Amino acid sequence: MLDAYGRTIDYLRISITDRCNFRCAYCMPPEGIHLVNMADLLTFEEIVRIVRVLSMHGVNKIRLTGGEPLVRRGMIDLVRSIGSLEKVEDLAMTTNGSLLAVMAKDLKAAGLDRVNISVDTVDAVRFGQITGAGKLADVLNGVKAALAAGLAPVKLNVVLTEVLHQADVQYFVEQVYKYPVDVRFIEYMPIGDCQIQPGASIWTVKQWIESYGKGKLQPAVCKGGGPAKYFRLKQSLGSFGFITPVSEHFCQACNRIRLTADGKIKPCLLANTEIDIKTAMRAGANDFDILNLFESALRQKSPHHNLQQPDREAGVRYMTQIGG
Ligand code: 5AD
Ligand code: SF4
Repeated sequence: MLDAYGRTIDYLRISITDRCNFRCAYCMPPEGIHLVNMADLLTFEEIVRIVRVLSMHGVNKIRLTGGEPLVRRGMIDLVRSIGSLEKVEDLAMTTNGSLLAVMAKDLKAAGLDRVNISVDTVDAVRFGQITGAGKLADVLNGVKAALAAGLAPVKLNVVLTEVLHQADVQYFVEQVYKYPVDVRFIEYMPIGDCQIQPGASIWTVKQWIESYGKGKLQPAVCKGGGPAKYFRLKQSLGSFGFITPVSEHFCQACNRIRLTADGKIKPCLLANTEIDIKTAMRAGANDFDILNLFESALRQKSPHHNLQQPDREAGVRYMTQIGG
């Protein structure tokens, strides 16, 4: 499928639920969000139907996200259903990792290819500070379980906030020498009015990596690359990625469209436009109607976001309601 600017759209990111067992400061307000009623969530049947239709039209990469996708019951079955669709070539999940220690093996067996896990600091106290309820040990055990289960590549997402200190970067450098993990540093995007201070710049983090890694970062490629620019240290098993949605946007290479847990197509993460597909499906839409709704959503994709424009329209959803 092509959008109005000639970009090929082959990647669907599906938010499975807006619920999460963490409260990350950049993702939701401290009081939590108004949660969607269960009856208003897309059912797994509806999700699989959408993926089937789109997969017949060139969408071959699927990511399950949240909230926290693994808190919704029946996720292994959903992964199995999507994973068994012939044209789905890459099935990934973005998770906070807290439930992976118990689920990674079954997810892999059901057809999940890979995971991205958020780890914004490896200091247990600061981790608790940024995630509200998160336990660092659970997440690090989840990372281990993902590697052991053969989910590959395992990517760690590190948002650049005030809780990232030099010592964390030192830990990540040690990890990429020992394990095939890709550690991605992501510029903090001010979405949905969340209160958290941005942290070190990408430039500073690169300096830290090179000082602990004893050598220069060399450009590298990575499977499912997406918008990150990857680098490797000599003799490391894993790599580092840098994602710069703010300082250097990558919208010209955008290949994605999103589906929210409550059944809205979202042409762009950073725009408020939404197209209701759930109502149409529940009113009896056929496969052709579903395709048409997505095609009309693609026509509404912006050429690029306007994050740095001072007068931009505020986001109407928090990240936990869109899914990163
Ligand atoms: N800015 C940058 N990245 C974010 N994420 C969530 N909120 C933000 C934000 N405001 C990322 C986290 C998580 C994924 C779901 O999205 O790294 O891994
Ligand atoms: Fe949950 Fe992820 Fe949002 Fe943190 S960033 S609150 S783990 S959905």
